[in-house]
Amino acid sequence: MINKITTDKFSKIETPFYYYDLDLLRSTLNVIKKEADNSGYKIHYAVKANSNPRILKIIAGYGFGADCVSFNEIDAAIVAGFNASDIVFAGVGKTDKDINAALNTGIYCFNCESIPEMEVINQLATAQNKSALIALRINPYIEAHTHKYITTGIEESKFGINTWELDDVIKKLSDFKNIRLIGIHFHIGSQITRMSVFKSLCARINELQVWFSSHNINLEIINVGGGLGIDYENPETNPDFPGYFSLLNEFIDLYPGQELHIEPGRSIVGQCGSLISKVLFIKNGSNTLFAIIDAGMTDLIRPALYQAHHKIENLTSAGNILRYDVVGPVCESSDTFAKFIELPETKRGDIIAIRSAGAYGEVMAMRYNLRDLPKAVFSDDL
Ligand code: LLP
Repeated sequence: MINKITTDKFSKIETPFYYYDLDLLRSTLNVIKKEADNSGYKIHYAVKANSNPRILKIIAGYGFGADCVSFNEIDAAIVAGFNASDIVFAGVGKTDKDINAALNTGIYCFNCESIPEMEVINQLATAQNKSALIALRINPYIEAHTHKYITTGIEESKFGINTWELDDVIKKLSDFKNIRLIGIHFHIGSQITRMSVFKSLCARINELQVWFSSHNINLEIINVGGGLGIDYENPETNPDFPGYFSLLNEFIDLYPGQELHIEPGRSIVGQCGSLISKVLFIKNGSNTLFAIIDAGMTDLIRPALYQAHHKIENLTSAGNILRYDVVGPVCESSDTFAKFIELPETKRGDIIAIRSAGAYGEVMAMRYNLRDLPKAVFSDDL
């Protein structure tokens, strides 16, 4: 929680930085673990959402697996304490170097997105005299009703194997002696807040299950990916894990012995992180007041890239409410965190919290304008 005591401590730390409330992270993990254990589902945390070593270590401590998209992520996960045998490797463009390293490390499974990829994994596994487990990522053609840049399961998406290719996939599989199909995988997008979208996914999975069993293919794993959204307007509200798990329970027909896997990222780490910044200047615009802060799009790119909304709080001031455009210092007009939002009267030196920035915040930071990368500060250390 960010209270007066934390704010006083923030004022002594160089800004901008990411602040992680680790108690909040642990309580979120307790909730999702309980839900997963009750339903018998297996969680692979999507490392791309936040790969800070300290965060990874805490998540690994809950016994979850990891969903990785590069060998560097696999390596970071293993260093943090995830078991290699609980790691799935996803991504539409895996390099030979990464595939080789993953085979060598003995990860659990490759989530394959195309026939050419299956061919390469088979080739490289043969060369290493190994057999690789694979799951097919299938494009289920479901509109996720989220931002178009994080919509991944519609017809024009680059992700997943098209259903009209499945006959071909099955034929090819018998030629690929060093890969073994164990399951099917889906991921239709991120920051999904309409539960009906997941219900449609379940229906599609049930249809595909019928198709696979009619081809005498026994699937051990159904992986529904990630995507559960969080409430950016209310940073204190928990993600709807109970609703999500009970929907999966109700609408997916698992066959005897099948495991259900999920790959949550944002819903685990989103809310525990805030980007903390200081106000540099207040500047008059023609129709607005600009609060120019020392954090920029280089620290948190989500508003610039996805027009994402993050709740912004002035932790210092309790003055009269005015309206501000909260902007960063970077030489781009898209370096805007929010327009015309209400804040208590804000002045130079005030501390600003940009909330719900734990997912896809620090990991997407960059050094444009040769700015320093933001540091991370943890509640346990304050
Ligand atoms: N599984 C796969 C295969 C994925 O591609 C992703 C996210 C996840 C799981 C985790 O999804 P989550 O539970 O976090 O929604 N940078 C964007 C989000 C990109 C998500 C990419 N894939 C943002 O800031 O909104």
